[in-house]
This record gives sequence, C-alpha cells and structure tokens, in this order.
Amino acid sequence: MKSPNLILALFIIILSIISISKSSHQVSYSPQTFPINARLQKAYEALQAWKLAITSDPNHFTANWCGPNVCNYTGVFCAQAPDYPHITTVAGVDLNHANIAGSLPEELGLLTDLALLHINSNNFCGTIPSSFRGLYLLYELDISNNQFSGPFPSSVLCLPSLKYLDIRYNNFEGRIPPALFDLKLDALFLNNNKFQCSLPQNIGNSSVSVIVLANNDLKGRIPLSLDKMKDTLNEVILMNSGLEGCLPSNIGCLDKVTVFDVSNNKLDGSLPESMGGMKSLEQLNVANNRFSGQIPASVCSLHKLESFNYSNNYFCGEPEMCVRLRETDDTKNCIPYRPFQRSTQECATLANCGALPPPP
Ligand SMILES: *[C@@H]1O[C@H](CO)[C@@H](O)[C@H](O)[C@H]1NC(C)=O
Ligand SMILES: *[C@@H]1O[C@H](CO)[C@@H](O)[C@H](O)[C@H]1NC(C)=O
Ligand SMILES: *[C@@H]1O[C@H](CO)[C@@H](O)[C@H](O)[C@H]1NC(C)=O
Repeated sequence: MKSPNLILALFIIILSIISISKSSHQVSYSPQTFPINARLQKAYEALQAWKLAITSDPNHFTANWCGPNVCNYTGVFCAQAPDYPHITTVAGVDLNHANIAGSLPEELGLLTDLALLHINSNNFCGTIPSSFRGLYLLYELDISNNQFSGPFPSSVLCLPSLKYLDIRYNNFEGRIPPALFDLKLDALFLNNNKFQCSLPQNIGNSSVSVIVLANNDLKGRIPLSLDKMKDTLNEVILMNSGLEGCLPSNIGCLDKVTVFDVSNNKLDGSLPESMGGMKSLEQLNVANNRFSGQIPASVCSLHKLESFNYSNNYFCGEPEMCVRLRETDDTKNCIPYRPFQRSTQECATLANCGALPPPP
C-alpha cells in the first residue's frame, strides 16, 4: 500500500520533469553557460519574433540573432537596468541603413527597458505595434525612411520618456493628432509623409527645438499659438505643406529661431513688421508663395541674417539692405527696376502695390 506522501512526492517529481523539458523546448540553452535573467529572456522572445517578421536581410544584420545571448546580436545594445543596476537588459537597438524588409511584431513590447530604437533607412512596412505603449523608457524613436503606412502611430503618444521622434520619409496619412504637441519632445520630424490635415491649434504646446513638417498635404493657416514655443524653438521647416493665409503677426517673438522656412506654400499677405524681432534668424525662406507688399527693413537689418530667399512672390518693394545680404534672391516679384521680375499684368492682379515709385 502506497502512502499519500509517496504519491505526492512522485507527482512533484513528474511535474518538475515536465516543466524542465518544456522550458528546454522553448529556449535551447544551458543555464550554466549563459547566465540569463528574466529580462534578457523576454528580450530573446521579442528579438526572435522580430527575426521571424523579417522577410529579407540582404546585408545579414540579423544572421547572428541566434541563441539566448541577445547582447551579442548585431545592433542590440545591453546596459544595466535603471531600476535594478545589477541586472543586464536590452537598452537599445540600432539597425540603421540595414536595408531590411519586414514588419515590427507586437512582441517588441517585451523590450520594456528599451531607450533607443533606430531603424532608419530600411524597408519595414505596416505600423508601430500597439504594444509600444509599454516602452516607458523609450527616449529616441527613429523609424524614418521606411515603408510604414496607415494613420499616425498612436502608441507613440503614450511614451512618457520620448524626446526624439523621427518618422519622416514614410507613407503615414490622415490627421496629425493634437496630442502629439502636448508631449515633451525635443525634436519632431514628420516630413515627407502623406498627412492631410490642418495644423492642430495646440501646436504651441510643444516643447520642441526642431520641427519639420515639410512635404505633407497640410492645409489651413499657421496657428497663432506658435508664439508659445518662443523659449525652445530653434528650427521651423514647413516648406511645401499646402499652408495658406498670412504669417501670424506675433511670429516676431520667436527670437531663438535660426532657420525659418515656409517656402512653397500658398501663404499671402505681407511679411509682419514684427519679424524684425527674430534676432537669431540666419536663414529665412519665404520663396514660392503669394506674399505681397514691401519687405520690412526690420527683417533685412537682422544682424545674423545670412540668407533670405523671397523669390517667386508678389512683393513690390525691398529696402536696399536686402539686396546686400550674403545670399538673397528677389527674382520673380513685382519690384520695379529689379531684374527678372514678373510681368506688369501678373503684378496688376496680385501685387496691389499702388503707384510705382520714381526710379532711384
Ligand atoms: C559574444 O561575442 C564575443 C565577441 O564576438 C565572444 O568573444 C563571446 O564569446 C560571445 N559571448 C557569447 C556568450 O556568445
Ligand atoms: C494645449 O493647448 C490647449 C489650447 O491651446 C490647451 O487648452 C491645453 O490645456 C494645452 N495642453 C497642455 C498639456 O498643455
Ligand atoms: C530661391 O527659391 C527658389 C524657389 O524655391 C529657387 O528656385 C532658388 O534657387 C532659390 N534661390 C537661392 C539663391 O537659393
């Protein structure tokens, strides 16, 4: 007769044999040779799932993505976990310029200590998995120059540590969510996508120093709230974005901006006199719009201004000092006695300059 204790002991032995054989099926390594912690184990799952989602890797970046020692994988960077410094964890993945095709699997959300993800210049398609919202340490996300598509990847809006977001040169479309401008970002690159919307009114909530929205199909006016970014904003590139209307008159308070490019839009009206307050301005490009009126002298007398392109508008007057800037282009306007201007007929329709001044 067997005692109940013996049965219980047998059960435990069988159970542990099953669990050992199961775990050795999932991950084929011996713990003695590869000391691995739970986070690296999760990273292993995530990276193996990613490897499966890769359809082409012509330069063999992921060829050595085998075995549990993920810290040795090409492009994978390990560091001490910020919360448990004695634990090694995956802190970064950099597969820039690898020319890899494939997609991003949901399992990437298992890389919970990821601070950096750089996969620019590949052929990844699909979108950012929703599991990314768990990457609470993600600081830099660069997925530029890929084939990502669909609406703006909303999981990005949930990343509390995100500072640098670069999704340019993809096929994202639809609206740019206003919540994007409530994030505490340092740099935002959305250019060369297919976003179709007007700029959200809360754009001024953004803390970015660099914002590039160029080459999208935006519409509408430049929001008045831009002036709220005056303490941080350094570069504003809104070229070829379908923008209309006037430049906001408060734009002059952006006194840390060095590069301001709104070329190739449908902007009209005159340049605000207040732009003379943009004291850091080095490069100003308003070319290819429908601006008219006089170029304010306050603009051309900005001390740091090196380059000013106002070609292809309907300006009808420029202070002498504008022509003397290091690099300037006033062609295709309605400025009397200057070479390469528009015809009188063209100017009559839009320039609205009143009577011509006498020749100088
Ligand atoms: C990791 O790579 C280094 C150098 O390539 C090698 O010396 C080391 O043995 C590898 N470690 C493991 C655990 O595979
Ligand atoms: C962003 O701006 C809007 C309107 O401009 C304002 O109502 C809102 O409170 C702001 N949000 C944050 C988080 O600052
Ligand atoms: C000014 O802008 C126009 C239109 O984009 C361009 O064709 C021209 O080359 C620019 N001029 C200079 C000096 O860069």
